[in-house]
Amino acid sequence: MILAANLKTNHTRASAASYLDEVSDFIAKKEIADQIVVFPPATALCPSREKITIGAQNAWSVENGSFTGEIGSDQLDEFDVKTILIGHSERRHILGEGLDIIKRKFDFFASLEYEIFFCIGEPIEIKEAGFEAVMTYVERQLDGIDLSYPSLVLAYEPVWAIGSGKAATSDDILSVHSAIKHICDKPLLYGGSVKKENAGNILSLEGVDGALIGTASWQSDRFCEIIDIAKKIEKPKE
Ligand code: 13P
Repeated sequence: MILAANLKTNHTRASAASYLDEVSDFIAKKEIADQIVVFPPATALCPSREKITIGAQNAWSVENGSFTGEIGSDQLDEFDVKTILIGHSERRHILGEGLDIIKRKFDFFASLEYEIFFCIGEPIEIKEAGFEAVMTYVERQLDGIDLSYPSLVLAYEPVWAIGSGKAATSDDILSVHSAIKHICDKPLLYGGSVKKENAGNILSLEGVDGALIGTASWQSDRFCEIIDIAKKIEKPKE
């Protein structure tokens, strides 16, 4: 399983370092075999550790250049970061990244052989229009993305479930994940209000290969609780 922490705009360089020390200690003590990924803010990027992959939450699709406020692959290279989150709903809906920008980022970082965590998911009005509308929306987000890219991890994050405290229901997750798996047979994470109270249930569902966690990952002990829950889940090979 893959357990990924999206720290978003939280933690400083110093607090992220302590956070990583605490998660590292936990992983070592508990002999965790799952893949653990942390996406710190850009100011707290650092090299990956033995059992924790560090990923960038964002970067522009360049090595370097004149893109004020952005970082490119040169800045990521300094930390040997080779994992990136692309298409997160906050970048799509709050920061205005359209399909073109997202595709350009995907193509650029795929050309550099990054591991790409690619987020998809529908806003509430699409959800309310029904399952077919959800799948049409999600398929459009995947349009033009190379779904055979070897280092691709998908994350289904319904926009309405992010930060709301209200995760999608098991039925919703099962049906959307199963449909996405028919389109693209890559590891597929669920994200959106995953917390210790629902992690066991969500991570046990067929078609769920892990979780991308926001709020409940920002304190190391809360993230570790979810890692611990995941460890105890035995899933049949699909
Ligand atoms: P929450 O876990 O806070 O809902 O955030 C999910 C998310 O956006 C992960 O990328």
